Amino acid sequence: MENNNFNLNKKNIGSEVELKGWINKSRRMGELIFFDIRNKNKLIQAVVSSQSKSFKIANSLRNEFVVLVKGKIIKRKKPNPLMETGDIEIDVSDLKIINKSIQTPMLIKEETDALEQKRLQYRYLDLRRFSNQEMLIKRSNFNKLIRNFFYENDFIEIETPIITKPTFGGAGEFKVISSTETDKYYSLVQSPQLYKQLLMYGGVNKYFQIAKCFRDEKSRSDRQIEFTQLDMELSFTSQKEIINLINSLMIKIFKEFKNINLSKIPLMTYKEAINNYGSDKPDIRFENKIFDLTTIFENTSIEFIRKEINKKKFIKAVFFEKEISNSEIKKIQEIIKSQGAKIFAWGKLKDGKISGSFKDASNEEINLIIEKMNINKSGTLFTIIDENKNALEFIGRIRLLVAEKLNMLNPEEFALLWVIDFPLFEKNSDGKIESVHNPFTSIKEELRNELYELEFSKNYDLSKLISNSYDIVLNGTEIGGGAIRISNKLDQEKIFEILGLNKEEIQENFGWFLESQEYGIPTHGGIALGIDRILSIILNKETIRDVIAFPKTSHGTDELTNSPIKLKK
Ligand code: AMO
Repeated sequence: MENNNFNLNKKNIGSEVELKGWINKSRRMGELIFFDIRNKNKLIQAVVSSQSKSFKIANSLRNEFVVLVKGKIIKRKKPNPLMETGDIEIDVSDLKIINKSIQTPMLIKEETDALEQKRLQYRYLDLRRFSNQEMLIKRSNFNKLIRNFFYENDFIEIETPIITKPTFGGAGEFKVISSTETDKYYSLVQSPQLYKQLLMYGGVNKYFQIAKCFRDEKSRSDRQIEFTQLDMELSFTSQKEIINLINSLMIKIFKEFKNINLSKIPLMTYKEAINNYGSDKPDIRFENKIFDLTTIFENTSIEFIRKEINKKKFIKAVFFEKEISNSEIKKIQEIIKSQGAKIFAWGKLKDGKISGSFKDASNEEINLIIEKMNINKSGTLFTIIDENKNALEFIGRIRLLVAEKLNMLNPEEFALLWVIDFPLFEKNSDGKIESVHNPFTSIKEELRNELYELEFSKNYDLSKLISNSYDIVLNGTEIGGGAIRISNKLDQEKIFEILGLNKEEIQENFGWFLESQEYGIPTHGGIALGIDRILSIILNKETIRDVIAFPKTSHGTDELTNSPIKLKK
């Protein structure tokens, strides 16, 4: 007799079994009591008759009691085609209650109507649902695949510290206080970035790790304060080698988890992504590129447009081959305006005529739009008029909003993309220069001298300084990012300087790191992929919370343990 094997079917009829599991449901029908016993992924019906010595116990069963059932597998009189084991049942010979349960605050069933807050508070009950068990198994298989892949490619897995030195810049950091160092603090690592570079300096050639990272920032559907990265770094490498390696990993992941044979993953420059899709992480499951209509409308008779263009504003447009109702257009307008977009203009294009904000456009203007945007069918034109950066960003958002409304985003379609050649720096809302990736990213060799020769005046075009960095994007979500690093002290120091650190601050924050770069270090580079994000997309989950065993809420709180707690003074 096999112990606790729930993999039972017609072939097992006649055999004796012993199963331990949870009561999923029990019901009395006259002289018979039926109950379903559940393990991590199966339900099996058991039956007890009133003549049985187990009848009294069976009668006392409630949902979520843990029981031991012994009996014989018999053919079910009325098979249940909706149940995997619906052809059989257990004729109970012995029944023991291992543990009782009080009434659960939520029913353990697939189509739960329990609110997320409740499900997170009682996560151990929520995890009993089959879909969550399946998620945990898939996540485990995912990590196994990653590990096998990197071992096969001669990488070694190295754990790096979680408690570390607070660093300058980047994402928010959690402070860690210690009772032995009362006036000092550590921080939790945002990522193993510096340690993996030091491993390269330490002579390790190929490192990887499934690493926990901590960032004190607002949670979102694709962001948690605590998350997991597949982190890797190589010495003497190139962008091409890293991209090829991750492409091979992606091919394996998609074959294993989706039975999809991935074709080549395309590359797009940051500039192309922004200009054509209004985003550095474009969703390319659909085309609908963005076009610049500024020159067409320079001398237009439509006054509000001409005025804006005269003020050096740009008009960016996206077209959908579908007539979208005025009320839908209004909704989109409201959403985008609430996000800060200034001038939104639209028009329905049909039989060479255009309506809406463009109703007074000349025939020539209409023809130029049609020609420029390669329009072959009637449909709806959306535009944003603003400064270049804002216009692109908001039209990019409209592109996504409309595609979503038109059901163009098929969750079973997977569009991967590499975005390369990011600028090294950008200005934040206060006009301060910041790293686009991180301060350890190298600049393209041919631009290196610029770092030393140029004064970064107010009007300096930072977008000219292209770095050796790359992101991988899946269905419009950034799932990974990396770079070829700086491997000389002079450049590293210069970058810190450009980022606004004075000599003392550089010494205090990074003196130890700069010193490490003086002892003959290899060139190196790497990448980190967000495991939670990849899994949530390939398993079609709405948020990364749905692929984490014990997630925090969208506010960063832990409903299960009730944390954080109040600071004691
Ligand atoms: P970066 O900050 O881009 O790079 O992070 C890499 C990837 O990690 C995932 N990610 C997150 N997932 C969930 N919640 C978060 N709060 C969160 N933040 C990031 C994303 C992202 O693409 N050290 C560098 C990598 C490198 O240069 O090698 C780094 O951490 O999928």
